[in-house]
Amino acid sequence: MAITMEELRAQFYEHLQQAHAQEAFEELRVRYLGKKGEVTGLLKNMGAIAPDKRKEYGQMVNALKDEVESSIKKRIEEAHQRELEMRIAATERYDLTLPSGLSEGSYHPITLVQREVEQIFASMGFTIEDYDEIVDDYHCFEALNIPKHHPARDMQDTYYLSNGQLLKTHTSAAQNAIMRKYGAPLRAIFPGRCFRNESTDACHENTFFQMEGIMIDENISISNLIYFMKTMLSEVFQRDVKVRLRPGFFPFVEPGFELDISCAICGGKGCPSCKNSGWLELCPCGMIHPNVLKAGGIDTDKYTGFAFGLGLTRLAMMKYGIKDIRDLNSGNLKSLDQFVK
Ligand code: DAH
Repeated sequence: MAITMEELRAQFYEHLQQAHAQEAFEELRVRYLGKKGEVTGLLKNMGAIAPDKRKEYGQMVNALKDEVESSIKKRIEEAHQRELEMRIAATERYDLTLPSGLSEGSYHPITLVQREVEQIFASMGFTIEDYDEIVDDYHCFEALNIPKHHPARDMQDTYYLSNGQLLKTHTSAAQNAIMRKYGAPLRAIFPGRCFRNESTDACHENTFFQMEGIMIDENISISNLIYFMKTMLSEVFQRDVKVRLRPGFFPFVEPGFELDISCAICGGKGCPSCKNSGWLELCPCGMIHPNVLKAGGIDTDKYTGFAFGLGLTRLAMMKYGIKDIRDLNSGNLKSLDQFVK
């Protein structure tokens, strides 16, 4: 009596269980799947199968073939893996009881400050938006009321890409897209990395972080702007911080302001971090220019808004007393280790 399919399957698994080396697997393959192999041999029984069951029988044999093939393959892979692990174990030895000498990981100070400011604004109803680092001229300049050849473009030394796009020079570059995405009323902040082709010193870097914020609604005025800025700063510093507001020019706001913070490194006496002025420009801001609102599809008869561009990198420096901005991008673990949290 010929062997049944079930018996053959059971027999195969028994053999597979006993095989450990590469040659044994090869032998199994020939024995079961070769031309004269046992699974192939099942087809010889075809004559004994009722004609209307033959198709089904053929399919079952083929399924068994696949099963045998993949089971062998799986065992070969497992054997390889075992061999590899044994080799590693033979060459490397770990003493799990040795102290590592490595300190706990830490968040970057900018990440810490960013999260803190995000939480503060989120609690005041602002949504947090993400935006690209590569943008086009329209979003970075034109939509912000900075037309081509406008002298204000000289304020920002831009890195242009060969395809005509550019690395965003400020987070304001997202204003237009976010206005278009949500319409008014709107409260949003959008942190991001910015790039400028600047020579670096203790307070300038070519890569830095900002956090832009916009609030658009009916009857928004400068007093709303001042309220939100004050609340944010006193939350971040957990004390009264000396700030000053002075007029500043930015084409996308009217009126525009510079919000300066008394330098926390020197206590306002003057040092390289604040260019010896005792003050640090922290958060330029202003009332959004109607041209910018219009470009964002906002009805200027009904809505006004304020915008600010918080220097996150500077804020981190002030909060943690970091004297040189270049330390923040240096990847120096010694200085970053202090921020374990
Ligand atoms: N985008 C400006 C810059 O990086 C900063 C800025 C100024 C942002 C005034 C604003 C603003 O939102 O109202 O130079």
